[in-house]
Amino acid sequence: MIASLRGMNDILSEEESRRFTHFISIATSVAQRYGFHYIETPLLEETALFKRSVGESSDIVGKEMYQFIDKGENDVCLRPEGTAGVVRAFIQKKLDRAGGIHRFFYHGPMFRYERPQKGRLREFHQFGVESFGLESVYEDATMIMMVADILKELGIGYRLQLNSLGDNNCMPQYRDNLVAFIESVEDKICEDCKRRKSTNPIRVLDCKNERCQTLYENAPKLINALCDGCQSDFDKLKKILEDNNITYEIDTNLVRGLDYYSKTAFEFVSDNIGSQSAIAGGGRYDRLVEFLDGRPTPAVGFAMGIERLMELIVMPEESREGYYFGAMDEEAVDLIIAITQKQRKTEKATCEYRARNLKAHLKNADKVDAMYCCIIGSNELENGTIWIKDLVNKSEKTVSIEAL
Ligand code: HAM
Repeated sequence: MIASLRGMNDILSEEESRRFTHFISIATSVAQRYGFHYIETPLLEETALFKRSVGESSDIVGKEMYQFIDKGENDVCLRPEGTAGVVRAFIQKKLDRAGGIHRFFYHGPMFRYERPQKGRLREFHQFGVESFGLESVYEDATMIMMVADILKELGIGYRLQLNSLGDNNCMPQYRDNLVAFIESVEDKICEDCKRRKSTNPIRVLDCKNERCQTLYENAPKLINALCDGCQSDFDKLKKILEDNNITYEIDTNLVRGLDYYSKTAFEFVSDNIGSQSAIAGGGRYDRLVEFLDGRPTPAVGFAMGIERLMELIVMPEESREGYYFGAMDEEAVDLIIAITQKQRKTEKATCEYRARNLKAHLKNADKVDAMYCCIIGSNELENGTIWIKDLVNKSEKTVSIEAL
């Protein structure tokens, strides 16, 4: 038997399928209510796109890409995340030149060659949102409130972690100070952090090594070194969240695993799914459009990990819905098909293609969670009627087929 690849799962059981589609319908409805529209971008992109956006020093690009040379000798890669492709499409369609505000959402599979474990897959699904054209911190707050709304409608509790990563005014000075600090403890830090010191020093702050973490408790904090503009935006963001009853924690070590962020960075975590606790993450990325050769355009967005959320969703009670149609004689089967087709224009309707006895039909209707079991036997066929049983209150009636 050929099995699926390690870290790549089917979403197949009825329960998983219900959870997945429930998530997509809630998240889609919230995103549309916030004025975002659905887009699709390719799963396969040029490798250079991710190298330049997510960053060569990130684990995603450095270690985790599904990268290969295609038959036309192009260096391509399965997308490890959605933002880079959306930015590429935004620039390619010249929306950066058009100006104005552009708000998109998407969902689909992402691929990262990570070591699989609970909550960490090699193929996983994200629901993501990207907003272009607004420098306003109100848009950052709106992103966070959108995630909070989606989680609330799914019945999922969370902790929101917040940080500011500064901008071109304050980050370079901070980076120099941090490098000086790293050099002062360099003989005690792990090999990864030694490498990060020269590639992207702020990434040392979210090193998972406990010894490193203890050392970095004394590291300078960017939050204490923000320039006036970043500081006032961060203060304003906190105030908007407070005004809108969104509770947050400041996490000065939150740097995110992708290099394109500046200013606002946030992560939603759950304490109920084990060590892979991030259920959504995002932030502002004002330099990325320009970095990918577009006109400078401020932008902010987030993505949610659907598999991690599926474990946490509080599903609504399953309720009976729609019609089940069945015939007790062969001659009535064609009629049953026609009635089912008519009903499907407005209602959920399923039918059985074979003539069966009443008991078998009632059992089938129960299995598909129908609200009504509708049967045509020889009497009904003769009289132009149909027998209907309400499977919730158990009442029965016979009505003319036209009245259905
Ligand atoms: P990210 O934090 O890398 O951000 O991923 C977002 C979410 O995807 C995570 O919070 C997590 O729930 C889920 N996720 C990530 N890796 C895995 C995995 N291996 N298995 C299962 N779930 C996973 C981004 O991807 C950015 N593009 C978000 C963004 C959009 N920032 C701005 N716009």
